[in-house]
Amino acid sequence: MKLVLIGYMGSGKSAVGNQLANTLNYNYFDLDSEIEKHEGTTISIVFEQKGEIYFRRKENELLKALISENSRMVLSTGGGTPCYGGAMTFLLEQKDVIAIYLKASLEIVTKRLFEEQIHRPLIAHIKSEAALKDFIRKHLFERSHYYNQASVVINTDGYSVEEIVREIVARLF
Ligand code: S3P
Repeated sequence: MKLVLIGYMGSGKSAVGNQLANTLNYNYFDLDSEIEKHEGTTISIVFEQKGEIYFRRKENELLKALISENSRMVLSTGGGTPCYGGAMTFLLEQKDVIAIYLKASLEIVTKRLFEEQIHRPLIAHIKSEAALKDFIRKHLFERSHYYNQASVVINTDGYSVEEIVREIVARLF
């Protein structure tokens, strides 16, 4: 089985994915890290030097390659992964893939991202927490259409990584 975690930036995909893979004894991949390995530089620099369209193309190619080359895996995606290039349809079409949406509230992702926005090129330029919240509100609204197609939706607000992993395992097995 291939478990693919989707959700907005700051929703805990990497922390939960890592621990979920450990719990299940599955291989773990983080799509952003795979892109960085492939490009030999950071996501911020890829955006800056090659642009977002190039990034989205690589993201889509590596998503498909990782899914086809591995079984028994957990994959944490980037916040935009399911929203471009037919990626959500691709994920839903794979028989052995389960897409899991880690759903976090606007308030929680805004708080987390305001402290970590520097590494995220789409929001790094936003100056105040209020402006960041406005940006995320609109962005989340556009992206929810994709996220909500996941077969499993996990509400993460107020739960620890361990509790979220336990909930995913309980829902799947
Ligand atoms: C992005 C999210 C990031 C990374 C890139 C673009 C997005 O991943 O892929 O900065 O479009 O939401 P995280 O969700 O892991 O921050």
